[in-house]
Amino acid sequence: MKLLVTGGAGYIGSVVAAQLVEAGHQVTVLDDLSTGHADAVPPGARFVEGSITDALGVLPGMDGVLHFAAKSLVGESVEKPGLYWAHNLGGTLALLDAMRTAGVGRIVFSSTAATYGEPERSPVLETDPTRPTNPYGASKLAVDTALTTFAGLYGLAAVSLRYFNVGGAYTAKDGQVYRERHAVETHLIPNVLAVALGGRDALSVFGTDYPTPDGTCVRDYIHVADLARAHLLAMEACSPGEHKIYNLGNGTGFSVQEVLSVCREVTGHEIPAVVRERRPGDPAVLVASSEKIQSELGWKPEHPSVREVVADAWSVLPR
Ligand SMILES: NC(=O)c1ccc[n+]([C@@H]2O[C@H](COP(=O)([O-])OP(=O)(O)OC[C@H]3O[C@@H](n4cnc5c(N)ncnc54)[C@H](O)[C@@H]3O)[C@@H](O)[C@H]2O)c1
Repeated sequence: MKLLVTGGAGYIGSVVAAQLVEAGHQVTVLDDLSTGHADAVPPGARFVEGSITDALGVLPGMDGVLHFAAKSLVGESVEKPGLYWAHNLGGTLALLDAMRTAGVGRIVFSSTAATYGEPERSPVLETDPTRPTNPYGASKLAVDTALTTFAGLYGLAAVSLRYFNVGGAYTAKDGQVYRERHAVETHLIPNVLAVALGGRDALSVFGTDYPTPDGTCVRDYIHVADLARAHLLAMEACSPGEHKIYNLGNGTGFSVQEVLSVCREVTGHEIPAVVRERRPGDPAVLVASSEKIQSELGWKPEHPSVREVVADAWSVLPR
């Protein structure tokens, strides 16, 4: 297939673009490099530097779009909600209009567990209430809603994948390494590993009084290679007039304290940690039920252990 990957110079988009190239697809990456890196675009893909609001120039002849490009910092979204609505919702609506004009009818979209807000139960099902607690999650939920509308009105074939916590790195068959390189890093595992490398003094643990076995927050960590594979399945499975939503996680929760212990074992470093106040809007437990995507698309995690996620991220970090 001829596929457009928006945000393909970013962490997850570059892994998906690499897997698509390996699977024999013709891939074009559209990325404005606002948070991405030109050298993360796989060698076998065409790179166009530009915004999703100017996608019309690259869309004609495409069979589908994998849409990763977004702003995704929760704290920033609380400070600048307008930026998130304009960028994530406005940008995606412009992309969807351009797709209609160009006659491109398939899209796989990066949604998020943040659409659920603070869930009442665990694991979270796709049918559970969506009550985002920040503009980032709300803007992603709004895109999910728009996709349902576009599928119903215009016959768009759409899939939203709601990622839980993504981690790890991917080494392609040609030896190229794809890893997390966010300038502002909010994710736990890269932040713990940065302490191990000596780039930061100590890890901040936000809250140790949650109703969890060790008092720290519990999250579901999915390996980026497994996550990426789901996009290939979703692109093949999406059908005109339907918008399907799938959660993507491992279905097992690990506490911050457990992740920290695994990181200490894997790196052999002590990794000091400092306890801080809870952050508002952080749910105690966030674990996905991925049964729907397993039964409907036949997806299964090949790297379900958090140790593998940590070890793969650690092994490719430049020292
Ligand atoms: N990383 C996670 O754990 C996680 C979890 C849930 C959802 N997501 C979603 O997955 C997607 C990818 O996340 P990531 O961690 O790879 O982020 P990232 O910042 O590494 O990648 C995003 C890419 O999109 C590009 N981009 C941003 N705005 C653009 C625009 N208007 N036009 C063109 N390119 C633009 C950036 O330059 C970057 O290369 C995002 O939509 C994010 O919300 C990520």
